[in-house]
Amino acid sequence: MKIGIFDSGMGGLIVANGIIRKLPQYDYIFLGDTARVPYGNRSAETVYSFTRQGVEYLLEQGCGLVVIACNTASADALRRLQKEFLPGRYPDRHLLGVLVPAVESAVATTRSKRIGVLATRGTVASKAFAREIQARLPEASVTQKPAPLLVPLVEYAGLRWARPILEDYLYELQEADIDTLILGCTHYPVLRPLIEDILGEKVSVVSQDLVVPNALEDYLKRQTQLANKLTSDRTRQFMLTDITRDNETLASRLFGEKIEFTKVELG
Ligand code: DGL
Repeated sequence: MKIGIFDSGMGGLIVANGIIRKLPQYDYIFLGDTARVPYGNRSAETVYSFTRQGVEYLLEQGCGLVVIACNTASADALRRLQKEFLPGRYPDRHLLGVLVPAVESAVATTRSKRIGVLATRGTVASKAFAREIQARLPEASVTQKPAPLLVPLVEYAGLRWARPILEDYLYELQEADIDTLILGCTHYPVLRPLIEDILGEKVSVVSQDLVVPNALEDYLKRQTQLANKLTSDRTRQFMLTDITRDNETLASRLFGEKIEFTKVELG
């Protein structure tokens, strides 16, 4: 069986790259729902239904485990899929999100218990990060900031305009005197050096491209039955629900190498 990685679009290629580098032996299928991206401004119900279709597609392709790389989808759909969808249809398959590894890392890092979260509007509205942090650290104070302009900046090579926008988004988090910041969106690892520069040394930045591959490795060490079912032929398939020339350029930038995509239809 393969490992599936699902994202609303292309940003998940950053975390996919981290996972594949860390665990290169396995077979992977990446699926990005580029026909319907972005998810970050959509209702929870729509995000759930799109995510269910993407995950189901990957399970039908023979994935034993699907990582939902998209924070918005992890926030709005993961728990419901684990409770309502998997047990009846695919009881032996596994579904993981990217929120919990980031939360666990932040909870282990913070000293002041003041944690910030930068994410899409949808993820902030779901309050999923705050819930997961407070479940582990009830006295934590969590300041969330929606940052809707950052995804387009990363996708359209607009990093030269990122500093003033980031300074504005981060101001509230600095005012809240956080000592740990979670980058709660697929695209934000690209902005990490700039964010670290603005926040200075006193704030630790949790980036999913670094924490999720480690969390997945630990998970597979614990889930030996699943790990034994995963095949190790080092194949990689990359699928999108819409392909344009822009996708190919962006993919090279996010994944670090040229990728051949196959088009698939969901729903
Ligand atoms: N993948 C989304 C996330 O991590 C960002 C892009 C989108 O809004 O779909 O929240």
